This record gives sequence, structure tokens and C-alpha cells, in this order.
Amino acid sequence: PRVAVIVVAAGSGTRLGQDAPKAFVGLGAHTILRHSLRAVFAAPEAQVVVVAPAGREGEALTDAREAAGSRVDLVSVVTGGETRQASVAAGLARLWPSVEVVLVHDAARALTPAVVFERVIEAVDRTGWGVIPGLPVIDTIKRVDGQEIVEAVDRSQLAAAQTPQGFRRDVLETSYAVAREEFTDDAALVAAAGHRVALVEGDALSFKITTPADLDRARSLAAPVAP
Ligand code: C5P
Repeated sequence: PRVAVIVVAAGSGTRLGQDAPKAFVGLGAHTILRHSLRAVFAAPEAQVVVVAPAGREGEALTDAREAAGSRVDLVSVVTGGETRQASVAAGLARLWPSVEVVLVHDAARALTPAVVFERVIEAVDRTGWGVIPGLPVIDTIKRVDGQEIVEAVDRSQLAAAQTPQGFRRDVLETSYAVAREEFTDDAALVAAAGHRVALVEGDALSFKITTPADLDRARSLAAPVAP
């Protein structure tokens, strides 16, 4: 395939307050990882690299094979790193030669619709830029210094960044090669390397499961959906 999706699932998920690493917490009948892979395999055909926590590679492979159906040959599992950035780098090292466009997706955004993957791939192909899905910021945002409000930030100039974030493979690889600090997402890393990044419309269902309240919400949204 000419597209690859790296699904990063190697985080510990300490803020979630569950025993298992976040990607292996249950959401209805399936794990968070398995839910996130549903859209990955509903989107156009792609190599799928799942980045799993050390010791959980077998479970990740089982989830990925179940989600893949007839696309099982496109799946591989790799062990993640200490940081999200190290986990993405581990996934990048496993790309096949045919891959020209790479999407990086948080397994924790388990309910992301497949149409968002299509939108990101289309925009990368059309622009050659990095592309991230995002949504307008709803809350009024303040810049603070300790307890003191310094200023209100004009939210019309802000977007909340989601995943999957898509890039030309050469752009993502060279950006990772020159990164000398930790960035909070791939778009920031790629922008720091001097590349342009565009915004496309995200989706409310792409929220990242981080807190116990997020998990409750995801469980209620996931419940009615068939396997
Ligand atoms: O911690 P946070 O929710 O921001 O993580 C976002 C995504 O990155 C999650 O899907 C998590 O599994 C992944 N991650 C990773 N390796 C790490 C840290 C986070 O794959 N070391």
C-alpha cells in the first residue's frame, strides 16, 4: 500500500486510573485498541503498525488480527518507547518501501470515524503539507501566571488538535531525524523542522480517552455498536 497508519498504543494511561495500560481497557465487548482499529480498517487500504507497550505485544496482535479481517497481512506490532515520540519513531522504522503517506493515530481516540482518515489522506495528497484534524475551541481560554489571569486568548485563532495526523513519508522521516526535543504532537515536530501543516475538520467522536469521565462517555457511546 502507499498509505500507512501508525497506531500508538504504548502509553501507560495513569490518568485513567485502571490496572491495564489504557489501550487494553475494555469499552463494551472490546478493548480501546480494538475499537480504534475499527476505523483504521474501514478506511482505504493501508499498512497498519500498532505500537504496543512492552509485554503487551501479543494482546495487541490478537486485537489487530481480529479487527483486520481480510487485511490481516497488512498488520504488524512493534514495541513502543518511553515517550509518545519514541513510540512513533519505533513505528516509522517498520514502514514498508511502498509507503508514501503516513498517518499517526492515538489508540486513545478510540471512536474516531473512518471518514476523518479519508479526509486527512485526501488533504495530504492535494497539498503535500502535513495535515491535522481539529475542532474549534469551545471554552474561553486564559493565559495564566500561577493563579493570576494574564490575558484572554482569542479563541477564533485556536483549534484543538486531534489525530490521525497525516504527512508525506519523507517529510515525517526527515522531521523525526532532526527533532532534538519532545513535542506534544507530530504536527508540532514537523512544523519545527520547517514544514507547513494544514487543518481539516475533526470530529467530536475523536476525543482522547484520558480521564475516568472520558472512559464513561466512551463506554456509553460504544455500547450500542456491533462488533
Ligand atoms: O498520554 P496520551 O493520552 O497523550 O497518549 C496519546 C497516545 O500516545 C495514546 O494512544 C498512548 O497509548 C500513546 N503513547 C505511546 N507511547 C508512550 C506514550 C503514549 O504510544 N510512551
